[in-house]
Amino acid sequence: MLFKIGMTVVIVSGVAVFYLNSLIEKNTVDKFRALTEPVEFSKNENVPDIDRKDEIESLAAVKNDVNKGTNDTSLKEKLQTEKGKKKVKGKKTKVKDGKGPVPAGLKPTILKPGGKLQFREQSSYVLHLSVVACGDRAEETIILLKSAILFTKAPLVFHIFAETDLQTYFQTQIELWPEDYISADRLEYRIYDITLPPGDSENEWKNLFKPCASQRLFLPSLLNDVDSLIYVDTDVLFVSPLEKLWEFFSSFNSSQLVALAPEHEDPSIGWYNRFARHPYYGPLGVNSGVMLMNLTRLRQTRWLPEIMEYYKEYRLKITWGDQDLINVYFYFHPDQLFLFSCEWNYRPDHCMYMSVCKKAEEVGAQVLHGCRRVMHNDKQPAFKAFYITVKEYQFGGNMQYHLLEKLRINLEKMARNTHCGHVPEIFTKQMEKNILQHQP
Ligand SMILES: *[C@@H]1O[C@H](CO)[C@@H](O)[C@H](O)[C@H]1NC(C)=O
Ligand SMILES: *[C@@H]1O[C@H](CO)[C@@H](O)[C@H](O)[C@H]1NC(C)=O
Repeated sequence: MLFKIGMTVVIVSGVAVFYLNSLIEKNTVDKFRALTEPVEFSKNENVPDIDRKDEIESLAAVKNDVNKGTNDTSLKEKLQTEKGKKKVKGKKTKVKDGKGPVPAGLKPTILKPGGKLQFREQSSYVLHLSVVACGDRAEETIILLKSAILFTKAPLVFHIFAETDLQTYFQTQIELWPEDYISADRLEYRIYDITLPPGDSENEWKNLFKPCASQRLFLPSLLNDVDSLIYVDTDVLFVSPLEKLWEFFSSFNSSQLVALAPEHEDPSIGWYNRFARHPYYGPLGVNSGVMLMNLTRLRQTRWLPEIMEYYKEYRLKITWGDQDLINVYFYFHPDQLFLFSCEWNYRPDHCMYMSVCKKAEEVGAQVLHGCRRVMHNDKQPAFKAFYITVKEYQFGGNMQYHLLEKLRINLEKMARNTHCGHVPEIFTKQMEKNILQHQP
């Protein structure tokens, strides 16, 4: 009897061990595969959950209530000690200043050089704009570039980072624009492969927030012949000439190297002040969708190695990917940030409950940022109306009629009964002004 029980135990445990073993093996094989196989972007992967923010907000709200009171002081203390630790750590780090493990001086895969102006030499007069497009973001990126060139008179260089299979799309779309918009004295474009730090971390960076969004963190060393650029998310549209936004560079004091807008205007609906579990800039954090970057200055700081450190330290606590890392960075370096106001990064949050961006009420939005896919879905139709108007406008058409009047009609038709639609002047004011100035 005892023998029988003994045998059963031996057999059962043998089977269990075998089963466990094969499980572990399968797991390792899968993991290995995930690391070695090229990442393929399915159509959906790039679609961030539109309601994710709301969902997290409600979850976090519950948590926050539970922790109330103890939260603030303990976080503050923690951050203080972290700040202290950071300094010590910084000295030990092996990563060389400014460079990091990314290749420096990336060559474009497609280049349409600007001609007569010798763009590179006249860098103060030439404006550089950079976007990173992956997955199904290609079309909105083209509309964004179109909006950039509509009102801008200064020569432009586009730096487009895109997945390989999108690169010829960008080239052919831009080449379809009329000659006077893409002539060599007006536009140069450079199209690059997505380039992230090599090795295991590549997949991690790529999956941070949305595919490819972390690309911008590496621009200072990748574009080592560019002094400064405006980086924008693909869901941005320009309502005014880029020259106006570019002017902020000349307002930088000697320590500022990046310019951004606040994430929120109103603390009662702010994200960072209510939910963040990591340090962030200022009272309400910053939004990274429209970002002026003085790359020369960034190359002179420990931007990249520090971002890498923050990533290691806070990776499990960040929700909005690279934007959160940028917030951590400027928490520790507030003197390096130039803050511009909300009309330069006008988002649904500024009008969805009530109009909170006072400057936009006054002068109109200068740059629209349709985050959470509002350029495409029906959640904030005023943004979609703007997107559709620019998309349908044909270069060369009468701007007063086919752009401005069309925008008014679309706003009225699509967004009349929404909070953002109740302040249509915010969407039309700058366009009206710029079209009038544009006319001969
Ligand atoms: C960026 O910073 C460098 C170094 O301070 C400066 O020479 C350059 O003019 C700045 N670029 C712009 C566009 O302000
Ligand atoms: C530049 O401006 C920022 C923000 O006002 C400030 O924190 C920083 O100390 C200033 N830097 C210098 C060198 O004045």
